Amino acid sequence: MELRKLSEADAAELLRVVRESLAHLRPWMPWAHVDYDAEAAAGFLVMAVSTWERGTMFHHAITVDGAIAGVITADRTDHDLVEIGYWLHPAHTGRGLATKAAAELVEFAFRLDGVRRVQIWHDAANLASSGVPRRLGFTEIDRRTPPREPAIGNRVGVDVVWELKKQD
Ligand SMILES: CC(C)(COP(=O)(O)OP(=O)(O)OC[C@H]1O[C@@H](n2cnc3c(N)ncnc32)[C@H](O)[C@@H]1OP(=O)(O)O)[C@@H](O)C(=O)NCCC(=O)NCCS
Repeated sequence: MELRKLSEADAAELLRVVRESLAHLRPWMPWAHVDYDAEAAAGFLVMAVSTWERGTMFHHAITVDGAIAGVITADRTDHDLVEIGYWLHPAHTGRGLATKAAAELVEFAFRLDGVRRVQIWHDAANLASSGVPRRLGFTEIDRRTPPREPAIGNRVGVDVVWELKKQD
């Protein structure tokens, strides 16, 4: 498993991977609509490149043997805080890839100047997602309702917030 910066050249491959993953993503991810098309993938990549340049969001491809298996993002939501979000193609779940990718993104986040905390947020019903921060030693610090985003799909509408603090 490798992580690398996404670029606009990834549009066709990303579109294929998202489309193959839609049934698995739609219960949890509001952007994963059935009409996710080439324009959506291209628009996402333009945003990913520009937010990386601005230093606000860092979208990485999770690759296996050079092919995109998912995406993981470090979102600098505050000066001292990065939030990590992730998804995998269903053919790549159950092997620890998201956990390994998140561990690498924690290190990436703590190398950013001033970042002291990393958080992972997920809906309380999303048990697969909860396994990632749990395996990495994050602490559950909050359960929030109403949720930040609408409770679409399988979401129950409770945001579970996990946090890991930088060790001095
Ligand atoms: C969330 C998501 C990425 C988690 O995927 P995942 O495969 O459960 O997570 P990992 O890649 O870390 O793999 C962990 C699984 O691999 C197993 N595993 C095998 N080898 C492993 C290793 N070396 N290290 C860690 N886990 C390993 C674990 O036991 C675990 O399986 P289990 O849940 O059956 O116990 C995936 O379910 C997904 O894409 N969901 C849809 C999108 C989504 O909900 N994203 C999160 C929104 S908050």
